[in-house]
Amino acid sequence: MDRGFWNGRKVFVTGHTGFKGSWLSLWLQRLSANVVGYSLPAPTNPSLYEAADVGAGMISTIGDVRDYPRLRETLEKHRPEIIFHMAAQSVVRASYQDPVETYSTNVMGTVNLLEALRHASGRAVVVNITSDKSYENKEWIWGYRETDRLGGRDPYSNSKACSELVTQAFTDSYFSSDDTGKSIATARAGNVIGGGDWTLDQLVPDAINALHQGRPILLRNPQAVRPWQFVLDCLAGYLTLAEKLYLEGRKYSGPWNFGPRLEDTLSVRELVERLVNTWPGKTGWVQDSGSHPHEAGNLRLDTSKTMQRLHWKPRLSVLEALDQIVDWYRRYFEGAEPKALCFEQIERFEQKTPSQ
Ligand SMILES: NC(=O)c1ccc[n+]([C@@H]2O[C@H](COP(=O)([O-])OP(=O)(O)OC[C@H]3O[C@@H](n4cnc5c(N)ncnc54)[C@H](O)[C@@H]3O)[C@@H](O)[C@H]2O)c1
Repeated sequence: MDRGFWNGRKVFVTGHTGFKGSWLSLWLQRLSANVVGYSLPAPTNPSLYEAADVGAGMISTIGDVRDYPRLRETLEKHRPEIIFHMAAQSVVRASYQDPVETYSTNVMGTVNLLEALRHASGRAVVVNITSDKSYENKEWIWGYRETDRLGGRDPYSNSKACSELVTQAFTDSYFSSDDTGKSIATARAGNVIGGGDWTLDQLVPDAINALHQGRPILLRNPQAVRPWQFVLDCLAGYLTLAEKLYLEGRKYSGPWNFGPRLEDTLSVRELVERLVNTWPGKTGWVQDSGSHPHEAGNLRLDTSKTMQRLHWKPRLSVLEALDQIVDWYRRYFEGAEPKALCFEQIERFEQKTPSQ
């Protein structure tokens, strides 16, 4: 990442009121970018967006990505050079309850954004944030590569695979030459963890709530394996990709995996036991014996392409990430200012070099 690249850069973030969008917006603000956000209101209460007053350092538009005229008008008004598309219904379990909302946001939101981009004048690149869950999950032990087949058994995962296909179609149909001044890439990240996440039915926020209240953590699928990744490692990947795409164009188009080192792909149980050991005044976990909709068992990512071609690799191990998370929430519960906590972690992260 080149800090100078972001200075004064016009950046558009959809989903800026969400967990990752808030961290990204704060980081871009610190890099002196001109940040414009377009999103529905924060999806949780509390939210990092409100707690850290993220909107104070940017232009925030509250809008729906399904509202094409409004989205197009907002893009035309601000004419961004870089677009991070994060707005989504982002939770697997919620997608089972409301597939229409999930597909309309995750698929038509992508169509609307890329269609608005097609009509926009000037040079612009898009990083479309999809997911590691876009792959057809074969429950095997190997990491998925960017060349593996897309799929997705539940509506969330499937809608993200659709968003990948939409991106491919727009790239091939409208942005297949550098002369258009437009390039698009997709980012398939693993399970992102960090302070300030209050998403319902997500492991780390649920676990932190339980630990804070001194009750055992309920685990639905303790054996499920996921590529856990610190939020800033993931966002550093997005920023690096956007920079390359803007400076070097279409050769960086297409899909990119962002995930942890192999040894940091842990089961839910292993992650929670490490978290419990890091938390002051520990409690344990118990199996949640209720019935639950299907979720993938084994999910690993192969990040060889990203590491070799983008020269990106994770800077924090999962243990280091958990230290950051515990520190963030512990100090938050003691009354620390969330924005200051985020800026402190971003600064520490920027100074850190990868440990392997
Ligand atoms: N958190 C993870 O572990 C993870 C992993 C892989 C991919 N992702 C993807 O990264 C992106 C950000 O994830 P997150 O964890 O910050 O999610 P989040 O749920 O915290 O945030 C989602 C954002 O999208 C906005 N949004 C939802 N529907 C909208 C609509 N119709 N119009 C406009 N805005 C809308 C919300 O208001 C919010 O700002 C999502 O696309 C998600 O699918 C997340």
